[in-house]
Amino acid sequence: MKTDTLLEDIKSRLDIIDLISDYVELKKAGQNYRANCPFHVEKTPSFMVSPSKQIFHCFGCGAGGDILGFVMKYENMTFQETVKLLAKKAGIKLSGYKFDSDLAEKKEKLSALQNEALSLFRENLKGSKEARSYLVKRGLKQETVEAFSLGYAPKEWRNLYEHLKSKGYEDSMILQAGLVASGEDRPYDIFRSRIIFPIFNIHGDAVAFGGRAMDDSMPKYLNSPETLLFKKGETLYGLHIAKDEIRKKDYAMVVEGYMDVIMCYQHGFTNVVAPLGTALTPGHLNKLGRFTKKVLLLFDGDDAGIAAAKRSLVLLYEYGFRSKVLILPEQDDPDSFLRKHGSDAFRLRLPKAKSMIDFILGLSSDKVDNIRTAIGIIDNAKDLILREELFKELAQKSGIKESIIRREAKKEEKTVQEKSLQNTSKHASLPYNEDVLLLSAIVSFPDKASYVFDNLRVENLHNPAVRKIFDEIRPLADKLNINNMLSVLSDEEKSLVAKLSLHPGFDVEKVDKNIRDCLRKMAYHEIDAKIGEAKSAGNLKLLSTLLAEKQKIGRGKDDRTP
Ligand code: UTP
Ligand code: MN
Repeated sequence: MKTDTLLEDIKSRLDIIDLISDYVELKKAGQNYRANCPFHVEKTPSFMVSPSKQIFHCFGCGAGGDILGFVMKYENMTFQETVKLLAKKAGIKLSGYKFDSDLAEKKEKLSALQNEALSLFRENLKGSKEARSYLVKRGLKQETVEAFSLGYAPKEWRNLYEHLKSKGYEDSMILQAGLVASGEDRPYDIFRSRIIFPIFNIHGDAVAFGGRAMDDSMPKYLNSPETLLFKKGETLYGLHIAKDEIRKKDYAMVVEGYMDVIMCYQHGFTNVVAPLGTALTPGHLNKLGRFTKKVLLLFDGDDAGIAAAKRSLVLLYEYGFRSKVLILPEQDDPDSFLRKHGSDAFRLRLPKAKSMIDFILGLSSDKVDNIRTAIGIIDNAKDLILREELFKELAQKSGIKESIIRREAKKEEKTVQEKSLQNTSKHASLPYNEDVLLLSAIVSFPDKASYVFDNLRVENLHNPAVRKIFDEIRPLADKLNINNMLSVLSDEEKSLVAKLSLHPGFDVEKVDKNIRDCLRKMAYHEIDAKIGEAKSAGNLKLLSTLLAEKQKIGRGKDDRTP
């Protein structure tokens, strides 16, 4: 039996209301149930569970999915772990089932492959004097190198590739892991002559790698691409090591780079994480928010660092994280500061971190501009208690009466509301154009996927988010169901899917008509574009063919049933 059947069996035995009630207090609201969302801070409940559809959705943070998705997210477990846990709850013995769902198996294989690569990189480091002396030069102790499982990729074209082949991995799997590129004649390693910084998921499994050049070669850092196991915008470097300390201290330090995390750790600051060369994302905060709702941003003192801090603060407050900022002297990042001045100097600086308001008020010489920036951040925050505190602090520190600030905030409220409408429209209130409606049809009726894929030209999907989802589910098209669909999507994509399953945007009784209409409209737009080109090129013959074709589409000649 397949995992698919197992999932169906689990779902037929477990009710989402019973299950979620074990975690949060649900209150009946019409046909559905409501609660304060367990995935973000809120005062008014926007977390909704639908017993008829057996799914949940939060209108505040966009989290959504089925029982599997809920437990995975709440317990922070992998797909397999969640299935095992739920099977146990449902009283199903796993021995009767084989875990041969393509996807779970593929993920497991990929994970084993990453592990194999990790051991090779670590072994290589032991064997390379040059690499070891680079790490010594950067001030790293052996224990630290081991704690972060650092490794080395030698200056060879196929060191990793050949190793993986010798372990029996097939080319297709090796290429999917993103550590090897397909060359013109033969595949070759992506990481060559680089120090390797393995990137772990929260459970401590290697899911990707960063590689640093040991000289001035560009790029300085190279990261493996996103895979089934690795989503950059949802992975914080160092979280698997730092999570317990973050929970204990009830705050996380967020720094910018690999070496910053590692050097902090070596100096006894072990609640430190970094995004992977990108700005903070909601996905990062979602992961971090399970351990703390407080952040200390530790950024470089250059313009880029200050701009990054400002951007991060907007997001942090939007998601209810109380945050402070410590800007280091220009030229220094936490790594270089610690190496120059040591842990005591660093520890003494920490209490000097500025509150968000102090930081923003000191941003530019234009006081009014700073105040407006602060109001914007506060108004964007969803947590009402936090907003209250911040308005008070802003009034006190800016010397402007609270009533005036609040009036100013009201004035801006309209624009903020418009903005947040635009923001939430990304998932909450979607424009149901053809792209979205087609996706929606597949979400409600996964068995229509192969028809859609057979009849759709992906180039005609103009919404990049929808197009990405289509690319991700295409390999599953002929055996698609909501579970394997969810398991290849990022958290943000999952919430879009959950949203669509609650609000399909079309009459589900007429799904076939909806699909046909969408495809027809897309073909129509495409042909219109071609007609425009033929006209401007003066190609009359082509023009008349196209016009005839357009008429055919318009009359709906193509009425095959999906
Ligand atoms: P930095 O350029 O500040 O590097 O990039 P760093 O962390 O101080 O590195 P060292 O000390 O010179 O070794 C900060 C982070 O941005 C990402 C990496 O995650 C890096 O740690 N980055 C940087 C890249 O992904 N690619 C690059 O080429 C450079
Ligand atoms: Mn550095």
